[in-house]
Amino acid sequence: MSLRKAPLPRLLLNNVSCMRNGHQILRHTNVSLHDGSALVLSGANGSGKTTMLRMLAGFNRPSAGQVLWNGHDVTKAGVFDQYKLQLNWLSLKDAINDKFTVFENVVWFELLDKKEGRSMPALELMGLGRLANEKPRRLSMGQRKRVQLARLLALDRPIWLLDEPSVALDEDGLRLLEYIIADHRKKGGIVIVATHQPIQIEDAMFLRLPPRFPRGMSHTDMLDRADWIV
Ligand SMILES: Nc1ncnc2c1ncn2[C@@H]1O[C@H](COP(=O)(O)OP(=O)(O)OP(=O)(O)O)[C@@H](O)[C@H]1O
Ligand SMILES: [Mg+2]
Repeated sequence: MSLRKAPLPRLLLNNVSCMRNGHQILRHTNVSLHDGSALVLSGANGSGKTTMLRMLAGFNRPSAGQVLWNGHDVTKAGVFDQYKLQLNWLSLKDAINDKFTVFENVVWFELLDKKEGRSMPALELMGLGRLANEKPRRLSMGQRKRVQLARLLALDRPIWLLDEPSVALDEDGLRLLEYIIADHRKKGGIVIVATHQPIQIEDAMFLRLPPRFPRGMSHTDMLDRADWIV
């Protein structure tokens, strides 16, 4: 009988707690992410999804426990320098610069890794090929989101941290998002996505963050109460 050791998870949240603004967001959380896996973060507004993504990106430190990449604590300087090169980050701030064309806004990402030729196919896949030489101020909200998705493809990084990537996308855009997530995972990539909207991600793990505040009367409750309005 061979006693082969199970492979180390690529990314491991080991008993991680995380604070924001003096409040606990995560408490003793354990998650193992192997190559090709996906984690979906859900929870109410303010529950800490973005904070958790920021922690995984190294902007915030865990208040307890460790985030381990290949078994190494990502907060250690030597490790972080390597770890940050694994990350592709899509945030609500699109950081699209109006001084440059749509193409230039994407190509800048591919040049970070000196891997050329990825931007135009990425823009074409996102349905933006004909707008490549336009200035981004002419783009709609959903088209700007598609530019962000093209950047994910232009920069070849294995760990995707996606903060509400489906916001502003139409049905076709959502299908494209689902397709590129599935394709990235097929190649061994890891995807961690915070979302309020359902995104079809096969065999994903789910982590629902508890609400930050005890539930009082919600806006919906208030709107249901006519006597509150009159
Ligand atoms: N820049 C900041 N400084 C201090 N506290 C912050 C900051 N941004 C957010 N917070 C606090 O951290 C908590 C978690 O916020 P976070 O943005 O992570 O929530 P979220 O789950 O991503 O919410 P949403 O669904 O609205 O995107 C919030 O209660 C908020 O008050
Ligand atoms: Mg958020």
